[in-house]
Amino acid sequence: MATTSDRTPGVFAARDISALVSETTEEGHGLKRAVGATHLTAMGVGAIIGTGIFVVIGEGAGVAGPAVILSFVLAAVACTFSALSYAELASAVPVSGSAYTYTYATLGEVVAWIIGWDLILEYGVSVAGVAVGWGGNLNAFLDAAFGVSLPDAIAKSPEDGGVFNLPAVLIVLAITLLLVRGVTESARVNLVMVVVKLTVLTFFIVVALVNFGTGNFQPFAPSGVDGVTSAAAIIFFAYIGFDAVSTGSEEARNPGRELPVAIIGSLLICTFFYVLTAVGALGIASPDQMKDSDAPLSAALDKGAGMGWAAGILSFGALVAITSVVLVIMYGQTRIFFAMCRDGLLPQRLATVNQRYGTPAVLTIGLGLLIAALAALVPLSEIVKLVNIGTLFAFVLVNIGVIVLRRTRPDMPRPYRVPWSPVLPALGIVFAVYLMTDLPLTTWVRFVVWLVLGIVIYVAYGYRHSRMRRRAAERG
Ligand code: ALA
Repeated sequence: MATTSDRTPGVFAARDISALVSETTEEGHGLKRAVGATHLTAMGVGAIIGTGIFVVIGEGAGVAGPAVILSFVLAAVACTFSALSYAELASAVPVSGSAYTYTYATLGEVVAWIIGWDLILEYGVSVAGVAVGWGGNLNAFLDAAFGVSLPDAIAKSPEDGGVFNLPAVLIVLAITLLLVRGVTESARVNLVMVVVKLTVLTFFIVVALVNFGTGNFQPFAPSGVDGVTSAAAIIFFAYIGFDAVSTGSEEARNPGRELPVAIIGSLLICTFFYVLTAVGALGIASPDQMKDSDAPLSAALDKGAGMGWAAGILSFGALVAITSVVLVIMYGQTRIFFAMCRDGLLPQRLATVNQRYGTPAVLTIGLGLLIAALAALVPLSEIVKLVNIGTLFAFVLVNIGVIVLRRTRPDMPRPYRVPWSPVLPALGIVFAVYLMTDLPLTTWVRFVVWLVLGIVIYVAYGYRHSRMRRRAAERG
């Protein structure tokens, strides 16, 4: 493998970690270290709890039956191994960009580019999809609370029978402005939303447990083990987001200690809520009552427990929950782009920090407009699977990154270390690949097309403009 000391670094040349860290303090390119452990954990929970538990759970129950509870556990186990690896790398390389930056420091530039490009699927595309889910829940809320709803023409994508999705556009633009305003303000707003969504889920769990019956648990796994794993590959969407904490490494006050706490803590909190929610939902409603609903938890309360009045509370909770997902995931997208621009793989001038707000304002507005345009026109269907495959691929590379870096930089300070490495990171890889293989062929084809497009852009732009390569050329 080539190194930065080569005259013309090859496509597999890796960045030096100390250089990456020192660039974070460059004039005009430095972000504010302003976020503490509580806000970071809340950012994780903010990114995680949203469309997955409020919407996708219905599809999971349709695939696995009541055994969707086990799918939640399986997906959580798969995520736990990768969360440990994210924690190690985030604490050791506290630089914006998450998996993209770790890969640049371990497996080299072209792999880093591929992962950065891949993360656009996880972050940018999912924000658009999640915003569409927000629009759907807005209508459910307006209907439940006031008996009105927006006409389809301005509330749905063309494929779903509308013209464009106005609520999805508005939520993306509002969040864009908040992100431009500042990371501290964004983290504060997020914390309030996290409290609201945990309260609404607690309400659901309590009501479900009070009305609990065992009648819906037979047959428990009508589609067998295959059903459980296929549902886990879909339900995985509900857990995406703990990794978003690591995109903000550069803004953490004490990254070595706080990032591992926030990454692992947010995953544990959400797993606890998810498993209880799934058990509660099946305790009051059958999979058939939930599987085709846009708001399966409301449907469970309504059809299963005869509590139609609670639908408004659940759709309000979903609205708030999805808003915080949009906020944190979009934040993650801006920070990954920021890192890629700063490294020259995308136009470097975009990685400029606004002096007044301390945020990459131009980049944030540009991405906000692009995502809003996408949100106006895309349907939610299929996006979930595409986002899942992209995220699982990132998990594979992060786990490989831990193993590689332990060999190539054994003495590097690691404030947090994954126990029993390489066994646990290897299990992270096995679980991620296992879930990936459960996704449909069409998803794989779309994913490969996306990656090929990324390679074309790297060859046409990134390779020639890479900061590492330009520096090596200057050194002669
Ligand atoms: N985990 C996030 C959600 O469920 C993406 O919406």
